[in-house]
Amino acid sequence: MNMTPIQPRKVVFDVTAVPRHWNGGDPVLTRFFDALSVHFPEGERFFIQSVRNFQDQVRDERLRDDIRHFIRQEGQHGIVHDRFNQVMAGQGVDVETATANLRRFIRVSQKYLPKKYQLAMTAAFEHFTATLGEAMLKEDSDMFRDSDPVMRALFLWHGVEEVEHKAVAYDLYQTVAGGGYVTRVSALVVGTLMIHLVVAPVFWNMLKMDGVTRQPGVILRGLNRLYGRRGILVRMMPEFLDWFRPGFHPWETGMPEKVAAWLDEYGRHGDPMRASAAVYDGKPLEAAA
Ligand SMILES: [Fe+2]
Ligand SMILES: [Fe+2]
Repeated sequence: MNMTPIQPRKVVFDVTAVPRHWNGGDPVLTRFFDALSVHFPEGERFFIQSVRNFQDQVRDERLRDDIRHFIRQEGQHGIVHDRFNQVMAGQGVDVETATANLRRFIRVSQKYLPKKYQLAMTAAFEHFTATLGEAMLKEDSDMFRDSDPVMRALFLWHGVEEVEHKAVAYDLYQTVAGGGYVTRVSALVVGTLMIHLVVAPVFWNMLKMDGVTRQPGVILRGLNRLYGRRGILVRMMPEFLDWFRPGFHPWETGMPEKVAAWLDEYGRHGDPMRASAAVYDGKPLEAAA
């Protein structure tokens, strides 16, 4: 279990003036995160429900608190991403269809999959979001080097909280749900496949809408920063693959330095923009920004 208690934060980001290609003007790097954002609110509702299915059986006080705070954090993520998703809808992104497709898919999964497997899927997705979150905060990932500061702060805040609550679904699965190794491993394999099958078409449609699909050079350059040798999705692989080790626990490597730094900085003023600037650039941002 985590050493510091999980803390829900009610943050607000003014996303109204965010430029279309907010991540350094790179359509691929922008739309990758945009496509994830489109799916977060529905996905997070599924995570919350999967955890709630077992909530009543939890006797451990600490895990009960963690679950409560996990639910509040994921709820807040949904609210913040929903607001940004509306901005994307204004750009012509078909957020509604993507959301409806995912909702339908989740309903069917909830109907046919055992609750224990739904929780295993949730723990697996949480492993993905936590390792991605950690990778986003590492200085050598430079994922948001030229990003719009609001969007960078939004994703870093989300990333930090994903790390903060990364073991909640896992602990619930291991203890109360009595989950085993094979199910947990299969859930990550299926889940990773699922993320790609669900998110990739939405990602591609956005690029098509932006006219980027006719520019292979732009696509290859962007994909290289995601899936290339130094790309964020390749750099996070060692931590991601730790899941396959029997006896793995999300907190076995301790609190990542940059996440601790963000939490410390945020704790001083409660401003996610300043916390993001301080941790990512290593220099504090003026309070006005
Ligand atoms: Fe989240
Ligand atoms: Fe999460």
